[in-house]
Amino acid sequence: RLLRIGLIPGDGIGREVIPAGRRILEALPSSLGLKFEFTDLDAGFETFQKTGAALPERTVDVLKNGCDGALFGAVSSPTKAVKGYSSPIVALRKKLDLYANVRPVKTVATAASPIDMVIVRENTEDLYVKEERTLEDPAMGGVYAEAIKRISTRASLRIATMAGEIALRRQKLRESGFASIHKSPLVTITHKSNVLSQTDGLFRTCAKEALAASRFVDGGVAVEEQIVDSMVYKLFRQPGSYDVIVAPNLYGDILSDGAAALVGSLGLVPSANVGEGFAIGEPCHGSAPDIEGKGVANPIATLRSTALMLEFLGEEQAAAKIYTAVDANLEEAKLLSPDLGGKATTEEVVSDILKRL
Ligand code: NAI
Ligand code: MG
Repeated sequence: RLLRIGLIPGDGIGREVIPAGRRILEALPSSLGLKFEFTDLDAGFETFQKTGAALPERTVDVLKNGCDGALFGAVSSPTKAVKGYSSPIVALRKKLDLYANVRPVKTVATAASPIDMVIVRENTEDLYVKEERTLEDPAMGGVYAEAIKRISTRASLRIATMAGEIALRRQKLRESGFASIHKSPLVTITHKSNVLSQTDGLFRTCAKEALAASRFVDGGVAVEEQIVDSMVYKLFRQPGSYDVIVAPNLYGDILSDGAAALVGSLGLVPSANVGEGFAIGEPCHGSAPDIEGKGVANPIATLRSTALMLEFLGEEQAAAKIYTAVDANLEEAKLLSPDLGGKATTEEVVSDILKRL
Protein backbone atom coordinates (compact mmCIF):
# COMPACT_ATOMS: atom_id res chain seq x y z
CA ARG A 1 0.00 0.00 0.00
CA LEU A 2 1.31 3.42 -0.95
CA LEU A 3 0.64 6.21 1.52
CA ARG A 4 1.20 9.79 0.46
CA ILE A 5 2.20 11.93 3.41
CA GLY A 6 2.41 15.72 3.50
CA LEU A 7 5.11 17.10 5.79
CA ILE A 8 4.47 20.52 7.30
CA PRO A 9 7.31 21.30 9.71
CA GLY A 10 6.22 24.90 10.37
CA ASP A 11 8.38 27.00 12.69
CA GLY A 12 10.98 26.50 15.40
CA ILE A 13 11.52 22.96 16.64
CA GLY A 14 8.80 21.80 14.23
CA ARG A 15 11.67 21.66 11.73
CA GLU A 16 13.76 19.55 14.07
CA VAL A 17 11.11 16.98 14.96
CA ILE A 18 9.09 16.45 11.77
CA PRO A 19 12.08 14.82 9.99
CA ALA A 20 12.00 12.21 12.78
CA GLY A 21 8.43 11.35 11.78
CA ARG A 22 9.54 10.80 8.21
CA ARG A 23 12.50 8.67 9.26
CA ILE A 24 10.42 6.34 11.41
CA LEU A 25 7.96 5.78 8.58
CA GLU A 26 10.84 4.96 6.24
CA ALA A 27 12.27 2.58 8.81
CA LEU A 28 9.13 0.46 9.25
CA PRO A 29 9.78 -3.19 8.41
CA SER A 30 9.08 -4.00 4.75
CA SER A 31 7.00 -7.01 5.87
CA LEU A 32 4.20 -4.52 6.61
CA GLY A 33 3.93 -3.84 2.89
CA LEU A 34 3.86 -0.07 3.25
CA LYS A 35 5.46 2.43 0.92
CA PHE A 36 5.55 6.17 1.53
CA GLU A 37 5.74 9.17 -0.73
CA PHE A 38 6.50 12.48 1.01
CA THR A 39 5.70 16.05 -0.01
CA ASP A 40 7.22 18.99 1.85
CA LEU A 41 4.70 21.73 2.50
CA ASP A 42 4.93 25.23 3.91
CA ALA A 43 2.92 26.89 6.65
CA GLY A 44 3.55 29.06 9.67
CA PHE A 45 4.78 32.41 10.75
CA GLU A 46 8.00 32.38 8.78
CA THR A 47 6.04 31.41 5.66
CA PHE A 48 3.72 34.31 6.41
CA GLN A 49 6.63 36.74 6.70
CA LYS A 50 8.09 35.52 3.40
CA THR A 51 4.94 35.17 1.34
CA GLY A 52 2.15 37.01 3.13
CA ALA A 53 0.18 33.81 3.66
CA ALA A 54 0.46 31.61 6.76
CA LEU A 55 -1.23 28.76 4.92
CA PRO A 56 -0.32 28.87 1.20
CA GLU A 57 -2.96 27.59 -1.20
CA ARG A 58 -0.57 24.97 -2.53
CA THR A 59 -0.37 23.40 0.93
CA VAL A 60 -4.15 23.04 1.13
CA ASP A 61 -4.39 21.79 -2.49
CA VAL A 62 -1.72 19.15 -2.08
CA LEU A 63 -3.21 17.94 1.20
CA LYS A 64 -6.69 17.73 -0.29
CA ASN A 65 -5.82 16.19 -3.62
CA GLY A 66 -2.49 14.46 -3.23
CA CYS A 67 -2.16 13.14 0.31
CA ASP A 68 -3.58 10.39 2.49
CA GLY A 69 -2.34 11.96 5.71
CA ALA A 70 0.06 14.55 7.04
CA LEU A 71 2.37 15.53 9.85
CA PHE A 72 2.32 19.05 11.21
CA GLY A 73 5.12 20.34 13.46
CA ALA A 74 4.32 23.58 15.22
CA VAL A 75 3.83 27.20 14.34
CA SER A 76 4.85 30.32 16.19
CA SER A 77 2.27 32.93 16.93
CA PRO A 78 3.37 36.52 17.28
CA THR A 79 2.80 37.81 20.82
CA LYS A 80 1.02 40.85 19.43
CA ALA A 81 -1.70 40.49 16.81
CA VAL A 82 -0.17 40.86 13.33
CA LYS A 83 -2.47 42.08 10.59
CA GLY A 84 -3.41 39.30 8.19
CA TYR A 85 -1.91 36.51 10.27
CA SER A 86 -4.03 33.74 11.68
CA SER A 87 -3.12 30.25 12.82
CA PRO A 88 -2.65 27.88 9.86
CA ILE A 89 -3.57 24.77 11.85
CA VAL A 90 -6.92 26.28 12.81
CA ALA A 91 -7.53 27.13 9.14
CA LEU A 92 -6.48 23.65 8.04
CA ARG A 93 -8.90 21.99 10.45
CA LYS A 94 -11.69 24.04 8.89
CA LYS A 95 -10.70 23.56 5.27
CA LEU A 96 -10.27 19.81 5.61
CA ASP A 97 -13.19 19.41 8.02
CA LEU A 98 -11.00 17.79 10.65
CA TYR A 99 -13.72 17.69 13.24
CA ALA A 100 -11.96 15.75 15.97
CA ASN A 101 -8.87 16.42 18.01
CA VAL A 102 -7.54 13.21 19.44
CA ARG A 103 -4.99 13.31 22.22
CA PRO A 104 -3.59 10.20 23.83
CA VAL A 105 -1.85 10.66 27.17
CA LYS A 106 0.19 7.68 28.19
CA THR A 107 2.99 6.67 30.51
CA VAL A 108 4.93 3.46 30.13
CA ALA A 109 3.08 0.50 31.66
CA THR A 110 5.81 0.12 34.30
CA ALA A 111 5.35 3.66 35.69
CA ALA A 112 4.52 3.99 39.40
CA SER A 113 1.08 5.35 38.54
CA PRO A 114 0.45 4.26 34.97
CA ILE A 115 -1.85 6.21 32.67
CA ASP A 116 -3.24 5.26 29.29
CA MET A 117 -6.07 7.46 28.12
CA VAL A 118 -7.15 9.28 25.03
CA ILE A 119 -9.17 12.46 24.96
CA VAL A 120 -11.46 12.89 21.96
CA ARG A 121 -12.41 16.52 21.60
CA GLU A 122 -15.09 17.90 19.30
CA ASN A 123 -13.35 20.57 17.28
CA THR A 124 -15.85 22.55 15.25
CA GLU A 125 -18.40 24.11 17.55
CA ASP A 126 -19.30 24.84 21.19
CA LEU A 127 -18.11 28.25 22.45
CA TYR A 128 -15.37 28.22 19.82
CA VAL A 129 -17.76 29.18 17.03
CA LYS A 130 -16.49 32.62 18.13
CA GLU A 131 -19.85 34.34 17.90
CA GLU A 132 -19.23 36.96 20.53
CA ARG A 133 -20.49 40.45 20.90
CA THR A 134 -19.95 43.39 23.18
CA LEU A 135 -22.92 45.48 24.22
CA GLU A 136 -23.72 48.19 26.67
CA ASP A 137 -26.66 48.47 29.01
CA PRO A 138 -26.90 50.52 32.21
CA ALA A 139 -29.02 47.74 33.71
CA MET A 140 -25.99 45.41 33.31
CA GLY A 141 -23.71 47.94 34.94
CA GLY A 142 -22.40 49.22 31.59
CA VAL A 143 -20.44 47.26 29.01
CA TYR A 144 -20.96 43.52 28.88
CA ALA A 145 -20.09 40.75 26.47
CA GLU A 146 -21.66 37.45 25.52
CA ALA A 147 -20.86 34.43 23.38
CA ILE A 148 -22.82 31.67 21.69
CA LYS A 149 -22.30 28.07 22.77
CA ARG A 150 -23.50 25.97 19.85
CA ILE A 151 -23.94 22.21 20.08
CA SER A 152 -25.43 20.25 17.18
CA THR A 153 -26.85 16.76 16.92
CA ARG A 154 -24.69 15.99 13.90
CA ALA A 155 -21.38 17.02 15.46
CA SER A 156 -22.18 15.34 18.77
CA LEU A 157 -23.18 12.05 17.16
CA ARG A 158 -20.11 11.91 14.95
CA ILE A 159 -17.61 12.74 17.70
CA ALA A 160 -19.10 10.12 20.03
CA THR A 161 -19.07 7.58 17.21
CA MET A 162 -15.40 8.34 16.67
CA ALA A 163 -14.75 7.86 20.39
CA GLY A 164 -16.46 4.47 20.20
CA GLU A 165 -14.34 3.47 17.19
CA ILE A 166 -11.19 4.52 19.01
CA ALA A 167 -12.21 2.48 22.06
CA LEU A 168 -12.70 -0.59 19.87
CA ARG A 169 -9.39 -0.04 18.12
CA ARG A 170 -7.48 0.41 21.35
CA GLN A 171 -8.95 -2.89 22.52
CA LYS A 172 -7.69 -4.53 19.33
CA LEU A 173 -4.22 -3.07 19.93
CA ARG A 174 -4.27 -4.49 23.46
CA GLU A 175 -5.41 -7.90 22.27
CA SER A 176 -2.52 -7.93 19.82
CA GLY A 177 -0.13 -7.60 22.74
CA PHE A 178 0.32 -3.86 23.07
CA ALA A 179 1.03 -3.21 26.76
CA SER A 180 -1.75 -1.35 28.54
CA ILE A 181 -3.29 -1.01 31.97
CA HIS A 182 -6.86 -1.47 30.74
CA LYS A 183 -8.58 -4.80 30.33
CA SER A 184 -11.68 -3.69 28.45
CA PRO A 185 -12.84 -0.60 26.53
CA LEU A 186 -14.56 2.25 28.34
CA VAL A 187 -15.82 5.60 27.02
CA THR A 188 -16.48 8.42 29.48
CA ILE A 189 -18.85 11.15 28.24
CA THR A 190 -18.02 14.53 29.78
CA HIS A 191 -20.48 17.40 30.06
CA LYS A 192 -22.10 19.85 32.43
CA SER A 193 -25.72 19.07 31.63
CA ASN A 194 -26.81 19.60 35.22
CA VAL A 195 -26.35 23.33 34.53
CA LEU A 196 -26.47 23.58 30.74
CA SER A 197 -29.35 21.22 30.17
CA GLN A 198 -29.98 22.20 26.55
CA THR A 199 -26.51 22.50 25.03
CA ASP A 200 -24.57 19.99 27.12
CA GLY A 201 -27.82 18.10 27.54
CA LEU A 202 -27.96 17.57 23.78
CA PHE A 203 -24.30 16.54 23.68
CA ARG A 204 -24.94 13.98 26.41
CA THR A 205 -28.07 12.53 24.78
CA CYS A 206 -26.40 12.26 21.36
CA ALA A 207 -23.24 10.73 22.78
CA LYS A 208 -25.23 8.08 24.64
CA GLU A 209 -27.25 7.34 21.54
CA ALA A 210 -24.18 7.01 19.32
CA LEU A 211 -22.41 4.74 21.80
CA ALA A 212 -25.47 2.49 22.13
CA ALA A 213 -24.87 1.28 18.54
CA SER A 214 -24.67 -2.50 18.39
CA ARG A 215 -21.08 -2.63 17.16
CA PHE A 216 -19.96 -0.85 20.33
CA VAL A 217 -22.20 -2.86 22.63
CA ASP A 218 -21.14 -6.12 20.96
CA GLY A 219 -17.52 -5.00 21.08
CA GLY A 220 -17.77 -4.68 24.86
CA VAL A 221 -17.46 -0.88 24.99
CA ALA A 222 -18.72 0.25 28.39
CA VAL A 223 -20.08 3.79 28.64
CA GLU A 224 -20.10 6.10 31.64
CA GLU A 225 -20.66 9.81 32.03
CA GLN A 226 -19.10 12.40 34.27
CA ILE A 227 -19.69 16.07 35.01
CA VAL A 228 -16.64 17.98 33.83
CA ASP A 229 -15.61 19.55 37.14
CA SER A 230 -15.63 16.29 39.06
CA MET A 231 -13.82 14.83 36.09
CA VAL A 232 -10.92 17.23 36.58
CA TYR A 233 -10.68 16.11 40.20
CA LYS A 234 -10.66 12.43 39.29
CA LEU A 235 -8.34 13.02 36.34
CA PHE A 236 -5.68 14.19 38.78
CA ARG A 237 -6.46 11.72 41.58
CA GLN A 238 -6.97 8.55 39.54
CA PRO A 239 -5.85 9.20 35.98
CA GLY A 240 -5.36 5.48 35.44
CA SER A 241 -9.10 4.89 35.55
CA TYR A 242 -9.78 6.53 32.18
CA ASP A 243 -9.61 4.88 28.79
CA VAL A 244 -11.40 7.06 26.19
CA ILE A 245 -12.90 10.43 27.12
CA VAL A 246 -15.24 12.28 24.76
CA ALA A 247 -15.93 15.97 25.31
CA PRO A 248 -17.33 19.09 23.68
CA ASN A 249 -14.76 21.57 22.38
CA LEU A 250 -14.09 23.80 25.40
CA TYR A 251 -13.96 21.08 28.06
CA GLY A 252 -11.91 18.92 25.73
CA ASP A 253 -9.39 21.72 25.22
CA ILE A 254 -8.93 22.23 28.94
CA LEU A 255 -8.95 18.55 29.87
CA SER A 256 -6.44 17.64 27.21
CA ASP A 257 -3.90 20.26 28.26
CA GLY A 258 -4.46 19.30 31.90
CA ALA A 259 -3.99 15.63 31.13
CA ALA A 260 -0.78 16.38 29.25
CA ALA A 261 0.64 17.76 32.50
CA LEU A 262 0.34 14.28 34.04
CA VAL A 263 3.18 12.84 31.99
CA GLY A 264 6.04 15.20 32.70
CA SER A 265 6.88 16.82 29.38
CA LEU A 266 5.04 18.34 26.46
CA GLY A 267 7.68 16.65 24.36
CA LEU A 268 5.92 13.32 24.95
CA VAL A 269 2.35 14.17 24.02
CA PRO A 270 0.98 13.53 20.51
CA SER A 271 -2.28 14.51 18.90
CA ALA A 272 -4.18 14.02 15.69
CA ASN A 273 -6.66 16.20 13.85
CA VAL A 274 -9.07 13.82 12.21
CA GLY A 275 -11.90 14.00 9.69
CA GLU A 276 -13.53 11.52 7.32
CA GLY A 277 -10.65 9.64 5.77
CA PHE A 278 -7.93 12.16 6.62
CA ALA A 279 -5.68 12.61 9.63
CA ILE A 280 -2.94 15.07 10.51
CA GLY A 281 -0.56 13.99 13.25
CA GLU A 282 0.69 16.91 15.34
CA PRO A 283 2.80 17.04 18.50
CA CYS A 284 1.00 19.00 21.23
CA HIS A 285 3.90 21.30 21.88
CA GLY A 286 4.61 24.61 20.20
CA SER A 287 7.68 25.88 18.38
CA ALA A 288 9.71 26.11 21.63
CA PRO A 289 11.88 29.15 20.79
CA ASP A 290 13.87 28.61 24.01
CA ILE A 291 15.45 25.42 22.67
CA GLU A 292 15.23 26.04 18.92
CA GLY A 293 18.37 25.23 16.97
CA LYS A 294 20.06 23.38 19.85
CA GLY A 295 19.22 19.91 18.54
CA VAL A 296 17.74 18.79 21.86
CA ALA A 297 13.99 18.84 21.16
CA ASN A 298 12.28 15.66 22.25
CA PRO A 299 11.10 13.86 19.08
CA ILE A 300 8.75 11.47 20.92
CA ALA A 301 5.59 13.59 20.65
CA THR A 302 6.13 13.61 16.88
CA LEU A 303 6.92 9.90 16.65
CA ARG A 304 3.76 9.10 18.60
CA SER A 305 1.78 11.53 16.41
CA THR A 306 3.10 9.66 13.39
CA ALA A 307 1.86 6.39 14.84
CA LEU A 308 -1.49 7.96 15.65
CA MET A 309 -1.83 9.16 12.06
CA LEU A 310 -1.14 5.59 10.91
CA GLU A 311 -3.88 4.28 13.20
CA PHE A 312 -6.39 6.55 11.50
CA LEU A 313 -5.16 5.39 8.11
CA GLY A 314 -6.02 1.84 9.18
CA GLU A 315 -2.42 0.76 9.79
CA GLU A 316 -2.69 -0.33 13.41
CA GLN A 317 0.11 -2.86 13.19
CA ALA A 318 2.60 -0.30 11.99
CA ALA A 319 1.40 2.11 14.66
CA ALA A 320 1.82 -0.49 17.39
CA LYS A 321 5.43 -1.07 16.29
CA ILE A 322 6.25 2.62 16.68
CA TYR A 323 4.51 2.88 20.07
CA THR A 324 6.36 -0.18 21.31
CA ALA A 325 9.75 1.14 20.17
CA VAL A 326 9.09 4.50 21.86
CA ASP A 327 7.97 2.83 25.10
CA ALA A 328 11.08 0.66 25.11
CA ASN A 329 13.26 3.76 24.88
CA LEU A 330 11.37 5.41 27.74
CA GLU A 331 11.37 2.29 29.90
CA GLU A 332 15.09 1.79 29.58
CA ALA A 333 15.52 5.53 30.24
CA LYS A 334 19.17 5.61 29.11
CA LEU A 335 18.81 7.90 26.14
CA LEU A 336 16.44 10.66 27.20
CA SER A 337 16.29 14.25 26.03
CA PRO A 338 16.89 17.11 28.52
CA ASP A 339 13.16 17.79 29.10
CA LEU A 340 13.03 14.31 30.68
CA GLY A 341 16.17 14.88 32.73
CA GLY A 342 18.52 13.21 30.26
CA LYS A 343 21.40 14.41 28.09
CA ALA A 344 20.56 12.89 24.73
CA THR A 345 20.14 14.96 21.58
CA THR A 346 17.17 14.67 19.23
CA GLU A 347 19.38 12.62 16.90
CA GLU A 348 20.43 10.20 19.65
CA VAL A 349 16.85 9.62 20.80
CA VAL A 350 15.65 9.06 17.23
CA SER A 351 18.42 6.61 16.39
CA ASP A 352 17.83 4.66 19.60
CA ILE A 353 14.13 4.32 18.76
CA LEU A 354 14.86 3.41 15.13
CA LYS A 355 17.18 0.66 16.36
CA ARG A 356 14.43 -0.74 18.57
CA LEU A 357 11.97 -0.62 15.69
P1 NAI B 1 5.93 25.42 23.68
O1 NAI B 1 5.17 24.15 23.67
O2 NAI B 1 6.60 25.80 22.43
O3 NAI B 1 7.04 25.35 24.86
C1 NAI B 1 6.72 25.23 26.24
C2 NAI B 1 7.92 24.65 26.99
O4 NAI B 1 8.03 23.26 26.71
C3 NAI B 1 9.25 25.28 26.58
O5 NAI B 1 10.08 25.39 27.70
C4 NAI B 1 9.80 24.28 25.59
O6 NAI B 1 11.20 24.29 25.53
C5 NAI B 1 9.29 22.96 26.13
N1 NAI B 1 9.08 22.01 25.03
C6 NAI B 1 8.06 22.02 24.12
N2 NAI B 1 8.21 21.03 23.25
C7 NAI B 1 9.33 20.37 23.59
C8 NAI B 1 10.02 19.24 23.04
N3 NAI B 1 9.56 18.58 21.96
N4 NAI B 1 11.15 18.85 23.64
C9 NAI B 1 11.61 19.49 24.71
N5 NAI B 1 11.02 20.54 25.29
C10 NAI B 1 9.89 20.98 24.73
O7 NAI B 1 4.91 26.55 24.16
P2 NAI B 1 5.15 28.13 24.27
O8 NAI B 1 6.54 28.41 24.72
O9 NAI B 1 4.02 28.61 25.06
O10 NAI B 1 4.96 28.68 22.80
C11 NAI B 1 6.01 28.91 21.88
C12 NAI B 1 5.43 29.23 20.52
O11 NAI B 1 4.72 28.11 20.02
C13 NAI B 1 4.44 30.38 20.53
O12 NAI B 1 4.64 31.16 19.40
C14 NAI B 1 3.10 29.68 20.52
O13 NAI B 1 2.10 30.48 19.95
C15 NAI B 1 3.39 28.48 19.68
N6 NAI B 1 2.51 27.32 19.93
C16 NAI B 1 2.10 26.60 18.84
C17 NAI B 1 1.34 25.46 18.97
C18 NAI B 1 0.97 24.72 17.74
O14 NAI B 1 1.57 24.90 16.71
N7 NAI B 1 -0.01 23.84 17.78
C19 NAI B 1 0.90 25.00 20.30
C20 NAI B 1 1.43 25.78 21.39
C21 NAI B 1 2.20 26.89 21.19
MG1 MG C 1 -5.19 23.92 24.00
